[in-house]
Amino acid sequence: MNGFAFAYDILAKIYKEDAFSSIELNKRVVGASNQAVVTRLVYGVLQKDTELEYYISKFTQKRPNKSVAVLLKEAMYCLLYMDSFPDYAVVDESVELCRKIGKRQLKGFVNGVLKNFIVAGKKAELPKDKDERLSVTASVPLWLVRAYIRQYGFDKTQEFLSVEEFTKEHIRNNSRVWTTAQLKSALDEKNISYAQSSAGGFFVDNSTYIKELSAQGKITYQSMTSMLAVQALEVKDGEKLLDLCAAPGGKSIYASELADIEITSCDIYEHRLELIKAYVERMKAKSVNVMLNDATQYNDAFYCSFDKVLCDVPCSGLGVAGKKPDIYLRSSMQKVLELSEVQYKILSNASKYVKPQGRLVYSTCTTLREENYNVVGKFVKDNQSWRVLRHENFLPDGKGCDGFFIAVLERK
Ligand SMILES: C[S@@+](CC[C@H](N)C(=O)[O-])C[C@H]1O[C@@H](n2cnc3c(N)ncnc32)[C@H](O)[C@@H]1O
Repeated sequence: MNGFAFAYDILAKIYKEDAFSSIELNKRVVGASNQAVVTRLVYGVLQKDTELEYYISKFTQKRPNKSVAVLLKEAMYCLLYMDSFPDYAVVDESVELCRKIGKRQLKGFVNGVLKNFIVAGKKAELPKDKDERLSVTASVPLWLVRAYIRQYGFDKTQEFLSVEEFTKEHIRNNSRVWTTAQLKSALDEKNISYAQSSAGGFFVDNSTYIKELSAQGKITYQSMTSMLAVQALEVKDGEKLLDLCAAPGGKSIYASELADIEITSCDIYEHRLELIKAYVERMKAKSVNVMLNDATQYNDAFYCSFDKVLCDVPCSGLGVAGKKPDIYLRSSMQKVLELSEVQYKILSNASKYVKPQGRLVYSTCTTLREENYNVVGKFVKDNQSWRVLRHENFLPDGKGCDGFFIAVLERK
């Protein structure tokens, strides 16, 4: 069965060694003859992890070890979602793979579990509890479903957790190279359909031509919500902008196109500063100065020096977990709360770098209030000279909007 063993190898690295799916797929799968099927298997299993975990619990007496659990997840995923793989082939291949990974003694167990799953119609009775049932059907960890229900209520949570994954890419024009009208005619000429988003970018199907335009710096991939976060800064000619968590540079570079401004783009990792430099070069951006800086530490050199400060803080990324499903494997409420402390420190320092009358934008790509309004709310409570001018919480809508949060703050 094409790609089954290869996908297993990658999944085992993700589950057992904490590898990142995007890195493993880029390193090992891009360009391979079975790229499409391996990518689908890897992302599919990760997306359905909670659901598959539930089936394993229902069809085994005792949870198998990690290697065999990964094998069962992949096999069950194929049985449920890969119509092109016949059931008997999935069972045979799984039993054979069991031998290859050194678990010969568990061949009978794997064979039995999968056959019972098929005989049961590839389903099991769903949990009686509403929250648990939603966790299984939406395939989202229970702790997170409960946190969402506390925040949004059951119906809204069910609604946004059940949206179909949106498959189009969001791109924006590089106004330094050509006009939006020129981009539109180029797309028309190639018969590429596009739909303009509320941020002024375009939803398109990814294709070789779109990739070429991106490589030439004529467009860039940037989410609609990322564009909106930059627009919230309302940059004007002559201003100075500080982007405290800037790599790979998407927001700094977009801001540099919106007005004639001077930007200081910082990040804590030297290697990520190189990403900003490469992005600047590709997009022919101007006045973007790159600097190593830990935003959790107060930097006196920045004191009251910037008209605008952007805090696009490190976050759990739960708002984009649909596209990066291994985010769920790595998240927990404990980690979310730890992140919120880092975010608060960054926001507090950032506020000291803003000139009087200046503006601060705080953004995340997560949907939990612990990293969003709670951080900003605590900040304005502790710093009475600041107020939240506006804030917006975006939820995945299946039409191209990611889970995202933007708050605009200013001195009273
Ligand atoms: C959400 S990403 C930023 C994305 C970027 N603004 C863009 O639009 O391309 C968060 C960034 O914060 C950086 N980071 C994490 N901790 C940091 C810290 N203490 N100080 C500065 N940057 C930090 C990460 O390396 C990462 O590049």
